[in-house]
Amino acid sequence: MPNPSEEPLMMPPPEPNGFVRTLNSMGYMSASLDPFSQAFTEFAPRAPGPCLDIGAAYGVASLVALRNGASVISNDIDERHLKILSDRAPASDRSRLTLAVGDFPDKLDFPQGSLGAVLICRVMHFFDGPKIERAAEKVMGWLAPGGKIFVVNETPFLRTALTFFPTYEARLKAGDPWPGVVENVGAHDPKRANILPSLMHLLDEKTLRRVFSKAGFVIERLEMFPRPDFAPDIQLDGRESIGLVGRKG
Ligand SMILES: C[S@@+](CC[C@H](N)C(=O)[O-])C[C@H]1O[C@@H](n2cnc3c(N)ncnc32)[C@H](O)[C@@H]1O
Repeated sequence: MPNPSEEPLMMPPPEPNGFVRTLNSMGYMSASLDPFSQAFTEFAPRAPGPCLDIGAAYGVASLVALRNGASVISNDIDERHLKILSDRAPASDRSRLTLAVGDFPDKLDFPQGSLGAVLICRVMHFFDGPKIERAAEKVMGWLAPGGKIFVVNETPFLRTALTFFPTYEARLKAGDPWPGVVENVGAHDPKRANILPSLMHLLDEKTLRRVFSKAGFVIERLEMFPRPDFAPDIQLDGRESIGLVGRKG
């Protein structure tokens, strides 16, 4: 009998749209960079310190930032993802790559003022509201002055969230601070229920602006954008994702 722990770790084969499923049922790594992740990889080499990629999976953004010359700390809650990421990094870039396994934000720590840029791409939709607030506050502490945070998240404007939309609108009207919390993902997207945690937090402009302004960030950019790379049954009207760039000081 082969010992499973001795089997080589492999990145799963891509889906038809190029997305690659995670090994821990936390959705998919995207196939290419969205405009905000791209901006992170371009800022990273000139950031005022090393850059941190939270929930890096197999390295879609980390590997590009490394290629651009940045020093990169790749974080993930699943050590297997980071091992595959490291194996994918060219030998010439590995001296600038650090792996940091841990549950962000509660089980991950860096010295105050030590980082130049932080990317949180398609990870916060697994967090409840208070955890998103802790995330923003922690990153604010870790960044050096002039450092930047880049955030990408899914919005309520997904075809798979259409049945959730009336709940979202009713919560907005009632002034709920977290209108986009989908408590039962299986009911809305049964096709993907086995590859997603049960809670999904769809974020809008108002919520992100409030949380990151409160943490002290100067919001440089905040907008929704289309995802032609998402599976056709998820795409809706060009507002599927939202991105934020915030600056410290
Ligand atoms: C949907 S994938 C996104 C991967 C990549 N950032 C992208 O944009 O394609 C989410 C990744 O975040 C990781 N993750 C989820 N919760 C996390 C947490 N609390 N701390 C660190 N990583 C986390 C998962 O293991 C997974 O690799």
